[in-house]
Amino acid sequence: PTIFVITPTYARLVQKAELTRMSQTFLHVPRLHWILVEDSPHKTPLVTDLLMKSSLTYTHLHMPTAKDRKLQEGDPSWLKPRGVEQRNEGLRWLREDRRAQPGGDNQQGVVYFADDDNTYSLQLFEEMRSTQRVSVWPVGLVGGMKYERPVVEGGKVVRFHTGWRPSRPFPIDMAGFAVSLKLVLANPEACFDGEAPMGLLESSFLQGLVTMDELEPKADNCTKVLVWHTRTEKPKMKREEALQAQGLGSDPAVEV
Ligand code: UGA
Ligand code: MN
Repeated sequence: PTIFVITPTYARLVQKAELTRMSQTFLHVPRLHWILVEDSPHKTPLVTDLLMKSSLTYTHLHMPTAKDRKLQEGDPSWLKPRGVEQRNEGLRWLREDRRAQPGGDNQQGVVYFADDDNTYSLQLFEEMRSTQRVSVWPVGLVGGMKYERPVVEGGKVVRFHTGWRPSRPFPIDMAGFAVSLKLVLANPEACFDGEAPMGLLESSFLQGLVTMDELEPKADNCTKVLVWHTRTEKPKMKREEALQAQGLGSDPAVEV
């Protein structure tokens, strides 16, 4: 089956670096369809050009985050959930597109939500390809821990190793699960709730789809870390600004 990867992305200094890293990882993954959704009122030339030159199979979408939902400069990053409208737009496109595809093949597939700043092992994609309903695995460097993971006993997920509110319905980072396309299509209302309290975004999507005992553990019964919740440092522009003030700033025609 094809893996449909839904990625929200937004314009910032490190965007091209993040998307370059990600696209070059995906080049090594067979049968991957990248659904890249810009948090923007229009498709930007930077992303359009990067996708065009990527040699990947992709769909380029855009959906701006409503202003009252968007983080403002200086807000702590946990205040509002990010990437919500974009992931939902990706789901909307996928449901519509699959309905339009003729043949019995149009329900075969796996859906994965991949943020643009994480680090993905190629092995992860082979693990998730066999997803029947919802598969799960550990995520490294997340939640103030070395890793979070589902705890597996007798082949079933019995609880979650997490440092924070383990009683959440699904205390799993976005990077820690994949859903079969069939299940996504069979539940046309399932989406991410931007109003969900902190830490419950993933649960808002998964709650209607599965129960804990139906989760399919991957990565050697959730003992291997194959994806890392890395976060890129915001580059400092002190020198740039100083030079700009003297009229000696970097050439704006050079895309970074
Ligand atoms: C954590 C989780 O790993 C995310 O999946 C979850 O969406 C997020 O928390 C949350 O609470 O909303 P974190 O590293 O803090 O992730 O979030 P980011 O990586 O900054 O953002 C997640 C995705 O949304 C990224 O792909 C990013 O490019 C995108 N994003 C971020 C936007 O599309 N617009 C924004 O204004 C900010
Ligand atoms: Mn992130």
